[in-house]
Amino acid sequence: MEGIRVEGGYPISGEVTVEGAKNSALKLMAATLVAPGVTTLTNVPNISDVHVMGKVLKFLGAKIEVKGEHELEIDTSCVDRWETPYHLVAQMRASTAVLGPLLARFGRAVVAMPGGCNIGARKIDMHILGLEALGVSFEVDHGSIHASTSGGLVGSTVTLDFASVGATENLMMASVRAKGTTTIDNAAREPEIVDLANLLNEMGAKIRGAGSPVIEIEGVEELHPTNHRVVGDRIEAGTFIAMAGLCGEPVTVKGFEPAHLGLVLKKYELMGMRVVRGPHECTVYREDPIRSVDIQTLPFPGFPTDMQAQTMCLLARGDSSCVITENVFENRFMFASELQRMGASIRIEGHHAIVHGVKGFSGAEVKSPDLRGGAALVMAGLVADGITTISDIHHIDRGYEGFVEKLSSLGAHARRIELPQEDYLDI
Ligand code: EPZ
Repeated sequence: MEGIRVEGGYPISGEVTVEGAKNSALKLMAATLVAPGVTTLTNVPNISDVHVMGKVLKFLGAKIEVKGEHELEIDTSCVDRWETPYHLVAQMRASTAVLGPLLARFGRAVVAMPGGCNIGARKIDMHILGLEALGVSFEVDHGSIHASTSGGLVGSTVTLDFASVGATENLMMASVRAKGTTTIDNAAREPEIVDLANLLNEMGAKIRGAGSPVIEIEGVEELHPTNHRVVGDRIEAGTFIAMAGLCGEPVTVKGFEPAHLGLVLKKYELMGMRVVRGPHECTVYREDPIRSVDIQTLPFPGFPTDMQAQTMCLLARGDSSCVITENVFENRFMFASELQRMGASIRIEGHHAIVHGVKGFSGAEVKSPDLRGGAALVMAGLVADGITTISDIHHIDRGYEGFVEKLSSLGAHARRIELPQEDYLDI
């Protein structure tokens, strides 16, 4: 089993370029199902979640050619299946993003119920409610969702209870082929939603308002393939920016839009960091102690939940105390218990984490609880006293391409290692 070994005391500095956004690329790949033919996606991150989505599309009959490390040529002309297998959906919840496109193409879909994951139940009730408003009927049978439309998709107005990213995406991808116009109210506004809407419009869809709380989709008869570059990964960028803030030395992060991390950068400046924004990059450094400030996660443009663990790591070294409130997922504080093993002082009260800044972390053996928590543990190891070994790093590989290589190029003493297979007694 692989792990990551970090030797503390080697601050990162220099330049790093992030990849295309995981949370856009996966949906763009699913969206190729609505436009039979060859769509080319560039700036696609080479991460395990993209490989799983590739398997889902191939299972449905698509042909995928890897044209270089970050370019995929996806041919969906021969897609003739509308059922996704449980083992792939169980492996990656985002596989449910094929629900909307399959309904648009075939008027039916069978998708395994996504299991929960470490950070929460990850239900899809809002996806189902919204699609029912478009004329889709659902049956759950033996762990799979059977979706069908007898009279075809019909445009309607859908108001989401919560600005769900996944529900907004599935509704957008289904409604591009509906009869009439669909309005999604209380829609998610994340930059990845805008990237998906741009791709669909390049395919001939008529979508207005993406990035605002109200998205209007006028159904069209057919869509054609296109070429599209995936938007830069603001969360990968934010992860390196948080690391720079922790270590203090200047780091320039390239390949993303600073406006996509607006509130994060503003909060980091309040915490004492210097942020120099460029057109597709920003440089961050810190000369003063980290100031403790309260954080609460919310849908975009609020503070992103995907930056919560990395920011908790920073605030765990703050100059006083603060409260982090997690409003998006019901169980996204597992990182805190691992960080406490490194000396952090954090108390969890429901969806609040009370963080008392400490002077330093001590290296320890820790376990990656999820994708972002794992990255934040590596981050803590950069400044910890001694060696930190992080296990379960498959979580990290799901969303960070060349994570250790990038850290090493910035001067970190980090490397992948083989962890001994401990045969613990089942006691
Ligand atoms: C996307 O998940 C991202 N994943 C998540 O990133 C991100 O944290 C999240 O959006 C919020 O920004 C991908 O894009 C692959 P939601 P998604 O629907 O679509 C509840 C990462 O680390 N909910 O906005 O699942 C849900 O349980 C990952 O890159 C329902 O109850 O997020 C959650 O508590 C983690 N019913 C909240 O809403 C529904 O029908 C937000 O979910 C849908 C969602």
